Amino acid sequence: MDLIYKEDSDLPTRKSHDNPQIKEIYSNFFKHPLSHLSHKLLHTHYKPKPIEYSSWVDMSEESAIKDNLAKRFPEKRKDLLVEMLISEVDRSGFVSDCGIVTLAKYANVQPIEVASIASGYMYIPRTKVGENQVFLCHCLNCQLHGLSKARKHLEKLLNCKIGKISQDGKFSLHKANWLGWCVNNSPAVMIKSRGTDYVVPILNVDKIQNPEDLLSKELFPKDNLVYIPYTRFGEQNPSFLKPIDLQKAIDNAFSLGPEKVIKELADAGLQGRGGAGFKTALKWKSARNEKADQKYVVCNIDEGLPCTFKDWTLLMNDENRKKMIAGMAICANTIGAKHAFLYLRFEYRNLKPILEESIEEIKKMRPEFADIKFEIRLGAGPYVGRDKFCIVVMDLSWRRICAI
Ligand code: FES
Repeated sequence: MDLIYKEDSDLPTRKSHDNPQIKEIYSNFFKHPLSHLSHKLLHTHYKPKPIEYSSWVDMSEESAIKDNLAKRFPEKRKDLLVEMLISEVDRSGFVSDCGIVTLAKYANVQPIEVASIASGYMYIPRTKVGENQVFLCHCLNCQLHGLSKARKHLEKLLNCKIGKISQDGKFSLHKANWLGWCVNNSPAVMIKSRGTDYVVPILNVDKIQNPEDLLSKELFPKDNLVYIPYTRFGEQNPSFLKPIDLQKAIDNAFSLGPEKVIKELADAGLQGRGGAGFKTALKWKSARNEKADQKYVVCNIDEGLPCTFKDWTLLMNDENRKKMIAGMAICANTIGAKHAFLYLRFEYRNLKPILEESIEEIKKMRPEFADIKFEIRLGAGPYVGRDKFCIVVMDLSWRRICAI
């Protein structure tokens, strides 16, 4: 506690305490005052006291790290800290103490804040890893589809155990909480190679006969990225997947105007499919009514729920991808936002280029879309959940992810 001080316990974010809807939720569902306390603590901004780390950290890598940051993040925006950490992992395989201090100086925050953020992510290692990291999914679906056999096979092949680096330093084997690739491939394995910014999922682990095979991109050519239609899940014709004239739908939303768009959403009964089943109309309406200088639309495509691959299924289809982005643009127009984030799962970062293409196509469909700024931001392996505010937004705004 000595290292931090409470900067301000009365930030405007805590306004939600005055929101009658939130008050009602608390009084109906959470009788214990502790929930109020937790809520209050969550929105209290703690700031570390400045400490001079550079004196006792080996800073020999500083200029290499700084050059890489300057190339990729010339704006030095601290809300890009997670991306900066990922970029350092791409460069050197892990984030050393020198990396933490250099990033902190670069983004003008304290090292303890950077270290704290880094600690929340599976794909931001703080110690040395192999040149190529091999992640083996340990989630239920993969367990049921031969994880232990695949694990033995890989441990033998690389001559190292989970959590260790092979003798030649070329590979390290890691346990992944879940990868989201089991759509057509369990047990799932993912390769992350140092010096590259992509990840490669592997099909058919048991066909790999020597370690070098793991690095063959042939194992997972783009054509093999499989799209599984939703019919497989028992819904014969979910409305989101019906073919539509997208241009007509967008123009229609504009001719209706924001209020009627919200009414349409309410009449259609559209709601989130997570635990809360939150009404979309209510969400859009409260965002529209909120007075703020800047509003944001956030689309969570981090595929948070273990053993699912619904976001993958949506992302892999050209038309669905465009519908999703058009929906974000209509939402931005309805609530008065000019900035939209797509929070993309780390394991799906190979899909970033096709997402960017779709964004460009959608932006051309209405002149009003042209000035919406779309940003694709990568997660780095946390479980993103909780309420509409808590984790995704913290992640996008350089605070350490946490849940209460
Ligand atoms: S459970 Fe392992 S990738 Fe889906």
